[in-house]
Amino acid sequence: MEKRDQLYEGKAKVLFATDDENLLVQYFKDDATAFNGVKSGTIADKGVLNNLISSRLMALIEIVGIPVHLVKRLNDREQLVRRVEIVPVEVVVRNRAAGSMSKRLGIPEGTVLPRPVIEFYLKSDELDDPLITVDHIDVFNWASHDEVDQIIEMSHRINDVMMGYYANIGIHLVDYKLEFGRLSSDPDTLVLADEISPDSCRLWDMETGKKLDKDRFRRDLGGVEEAYQEVVARMGLQN
Ligand code: TMP
Ligand code: ASP
Repeated sequence: MEKRDQLYEGKAKVLFATDDENLLVQYFKDDATAFNGVKSGTIADKGVLNNLISSRLMALIEIVGIPVHLVKRLNDREQLVRRVEIVPVEVVVRNRAAGSMSKRLGIPEGTVLPRPVIEFYLKSDELDDPLITVDHIDVFNWASHDEVDQIIEMSHRINDVMMGYYANIGIHLVDYKLEFGRLSSDPDTLVLADEISPDSCRLWDMETGKKLDKDRFRRDLGGVEEAYQEVVARMGLQN
């Protein structure tokens, strides 16, 4: 596999073409932003840690039969991934109230939800990723009915895998964001794409409640690198 031109640079990752039109290299940066870029900085080695964490989680999810974009982790900061057209909808899965849900609905952070709640946000920096409904997704053709059904089903199954996995290593999986894409080689197939890492999850230590995720950066709590390192260590991954 030969790495070629840069195709896209996002806030935390860069995508490169390869000599195979259906495969890309996904490079993880140390750059961190919050509130859609209003706050920005870097977190030392974040790219290396998120590459490790996301590779492991995607592999676990693939084992239960959910297709993922990851082909393999190539090195410290890069993955080989299937090329997809990203569905422009961020899927947030919540097991406890926190963040924007707590703010919007006045539910105290940490409240356990009686069942997982799935929310959709339009992927748009200009509009600040507004909360949307299934009807919006339908009338504006962001995804088909069938795709939405698949996304909901896959998200619930991903949640079962992730909840069990994190519970085993003493971490509450509070909430997280998923992105799905249509394979460029087969647009009828939806796969889990992007990343799953402490950038896009809320992870709380079960004993102390300590936050082990990007909220440490968003809320200026300090110890950001150490928190990401702690997740890597608990997951038994080698930095
Ligand atoms: P929220 O409480 O701010 O809506 O975030 C819910 C979860 O989604 C949280 O784990 C952080 C993650 N998230 C992202 O990964 N990207 C985003 O742009 C936003 C707003 C949230
Ligand atoms: N991902 C968004 C940003 O980069 C928001 C967040 O994670 O808080 O600004």
